[in-house]
Amino acid sequence: MSVNLHDYIASVPDFPEKGIIYRDISPLMADGTAYRQATDEIVAYAWKKEVDMIVGPEARGFIVGCPVAYKLGIGFAPARKKGKLPRPTVSASYGLEYGKSTLYLHKDAIKPGQKVLVTDDLLATGGTIAATIQLVEDLGGIVVGTAFLIELTDLNGRDKIKGYDMLALMKY
Ligand code: PRP
Repeated sequence: MSVNLHDYIASVPDFPEKGIIYRDISPLMADGTAYRQATDEIVAYAWKKEVDMIVGPEARGFIVGCPVAYKLGIGFAPARKKGKLPRPTVSASYGLEYGKSTLYLHKDAIKPGQKVLVTDDLLATGGTIAATIQLVEDLGGIVVGTAFLIELTDLNGRDKIKGYDMLALMKY
């Protein structure tokens, strides 16, 4: 029997600032049945796409991507924020509300031609996922899909990743 994953998202008004409703995935992760169900849905998607490797951005992209990689018996590469990766990297910047941020991926994280699934907890403006896709492609990887627990539809993040297949388990 499956659960309704929406029941495991806590909606927190006025966090981190007034007017924003924060969608907290912690209750989903805290419930073994819900976390496994969400993971299994992404595993099924990745299986169909014959994914070789998963890449997820710090930090919550790890929470979504790592159990999928484990279940499929494939690798996971973390896209990290500044100063975290010790060996040569490629980088990609993206805009934030104020200023910009940069993500990094080890240069040997992906082999050219590998089919990659990019995972994250949430699609908002799409900046994070677009930067992660760019990192994979800079290394010659083929992004065959993107998978999220949540899509915030009002922010139109989907427009930033037009042309890439996408799975979102929940929409708000
Ligand atoms: C959040 C979230 C996504 C990203 C989505 O991460 O986990 O990665 O923002 O926003 P976007 O679509 O507008 O780019 P955050 O940068 O807060 O990092 P964290 O996971 O380390 O908390």
